[in-house]
Amino acid sequence: MSLVITGATGQLGRLVVSSLLAKGVPADQVVALGRDDERLAELGALGVTTRKVDYADAAGLADALTGADRVLLISGSEVGQRLPQHQNVIDAAKAAGVQLLAYTSIPQADTSGIALAAEHRATEEAITASGLPHTYLRNSWYIENYSGQLATYTEHGTVLGAAGDGQVSAATRADFAEAAAAALLLEQPKEVYELGGPAFSLKQLAATVSEVTGTDVTYTDVPAEELTKVLVGAGLPEAYAGILADADLGLGRGELYADPADLEQLLGRPATSLEDGLRAAR
Ligand SMILES: NC(=O)c1ccc[n+]([C@@H]2O[C@H](COP(=O)([O-])OP(=O)(O)OC[C@H]3O[C@@H](n4cnc5c(N)ncnc54)[C@H](OP(=O)(O)O)[C@@H]3O)[C@@H](O)[C@H]2O)c1
Repeated sequence: MSLVITGATGQLGRLVVSSLLAKGVPADQVVALGRDDERLAELGALGVTTRKVDYADAAGLADALTGADRVLLISGSEVGQRLPQHQNVIDAAKAAGVQLLAYTSIPQADTSGIALAAEHRATEEAITASGLPHTYLRNSWYIENYSGQLATYTEHGTVLGAAGDGQVSAATRADFAEAAAAALLLEQPKEVYELGGPAFSLKQLAATVSEVTGTDVTYTDVPAEELTKVLVGAGLPEAYAGILADADLGLGRGELYADPADLEQLLGRPATSLEDGLRAAR
């Protein structure tokens, strides 16, 4: 069986490759795709086959997916370009006649009002239209989105957000990666997995940050426009800051919530808790 992982050079993709190997998949059955030579070489050192290809390169993708049995399409990171890029992967998967196309999506992709969800929804629709057997791995936020900001939280004594009391089902990248590897190996995965860990509000995030760091941190809720301004002031490009603030509004509406059952089912255990995720990052 040939398992192809796109975006394998990324943070999630590398963990999916290690997870497959840890589950006993022979390295010569794994094909890792990416663009970065150095990170492809690191993957090659694990014994897996590597192929350098850009999502924009339709012919290159057709070559790279030749002989593939199952493909995990890890959503690209170039927001605004992703639908045509993903379509190239879908077309190549269709031409290769793959048995399964798995796609990393966003919770409630079919109904979510979060701006970032639009490309995920369109990609899911394109995969469904292709007629390929598929599974949608609708990952909620990474705990790392928060643990990467521990120093900022403690420096300012605050978690700033626009999410009100909304709950986010964040889980670690490692858990989402292990779940993706498990789904790829199931004879017949479900068509849709809504994936997330135990949910928490940003107020609970601040309380957990306080506990883990020993520094008092509280949650400050601000309008999305103000959050955007603060993020721009901190150096983020305006469009990206707006996307993050918009996602916080979606979090507030419950659109990043996922029942923990699907992730637990794929992992065969409960997901890593927020507290453990923060402690590991520290
Ligand atoms: N759930 C969340 O909280 C969350 C947060 C951020 C992002 N995401 C989504 O989840 C995906 C995976 O997350 P991650 O943390 O692994 O992101 P990441 O570290 O940025 O990895 C992105 C991967 O996509 C590849 N890629 C991007 N554009 C490409 C293109 N045009 N052609 C070929 N490969 C391309 C990158 O390849 P190179 O190494 O060659 O650049 C890399 O392997 C992201 O791309 C994004 O869609 C989810």
